[in-house]
Amino acid sequence: MWKTGAKMTKNQILGILYKKKGEYVLGEKIASEIDISKTKVSDEIKLLINEGYVIDSSDSGYRLMKIPNLPLPYEVRRNLHTQYMGHEIHYFKEVNSTNDVARELAENGAEEGAIVIAESQRSGKGRRGKKWISPSGGLWMTIILRPNVPPTKAPQLTLVTGVAVAKTLNEEYDLDVGIKWPNDILIGDKKVCGILTEVKADMGTIDYVLVGIGIDLNFDVDIFPPKLREGATSLKMELKREIQGATLVQRFLQNFEVTYNQFKEGKFPDILREWRRLSKTIGSYVEVHKKGRTVRGYAVGINKDGILILELDDGTLRKVISGECIHIKRKD
Ligand code: BTN
Repeated sequence: MWKTGAKMTKNQILGILYKKKGEYVLGEKIASEIDISKTKVSDEIKLLINEGYVIDSSDSGYRLMKIPNLPLPYEVRRNLHTQYMGHEIHYFKEVNSTNDVARELAENGAEEGAIVIAESQRSGKGRRGKKWISPSGGLWMTIILRPNVPPTKAPQLTLVTGVAVAKTLNEEYDLDVGIKWPNDILIGDKKVCGILTEVKADMGTIDYVLVGIGIDLNFDVDIFPPKLREGATSLKMELKREIQGATLVQRFLQNFEVTYNQFKEGKFPDILREWRRLSKTIGSYVEVHKKGRTVRGYAVGINKDGILILELDDGTLRKVISGECIHIKRKD
């Protein structure tokens, strides 16, 4: 956790270097300001350099030259305007899956709003047992939630998250962002983000919910196998520039906290209204695949529980609770 012990010292040093960005600060001055030894300052500076910060050291002291483009805790925390979301950040270079790390933290009492971020995942998990390719350059993150709602409402959190992601991307970038039911975020007709929600419930109450979010950020999807490549994109490919990961996390956490608070206040119908506005599925002719079976029809809406309503070719309406949805074409 970034708040405690050695990490606190590192953050204090960064705070001082930030304030004096562009100027040298003597090791002695840093040491006396935070009441540690000069050697400790030098050790902590080495750790920061290891994380990617470019810090020049000379007889005049230390000077912060460049901040790495990574969603590092200190970078996310700076200018983060939330009440609780993202106040506890667990950051890793590589993990198997941020959802698995988050599960362990949640089992050990991590608080609502704690997040896990990894630069890459060895075995990232997608929906329905699929593998989620997670190279460095992406945003791989899990949020721990402890909502006081019945477990049956937990799947709604996927839609809550989808709205917050799509809203954030729309606000930050001039792109055609929308949601494919139930939880894929698309730019145009290509997937840029997936959401995996996992729930632990006991005796009719939720213990915790893990909301895993994967956004293809600063890499080219050419590295994906051909089958996945076709339907995928990244923010860097769409915008033809690098994205500031830390800023994106901040903005997302701010939007997510607002939307999630609405959810906890029982305002899911308002969130659904927003979901419908952002939806690329409603009004599309779609195929939904589940357990070897396929249903085809026009997506005419989603109901109050987030269930997809299809109008089949014979005019009958069919509710679809879950499945893999493929957009065939838009209704004119
Ligand atoms: C999907 O299939 O669309 C869901 C993909 C979810 C991927 C994210 S990346 C962060 C978190 N950790 C995981 O292992 N999976 C989720």
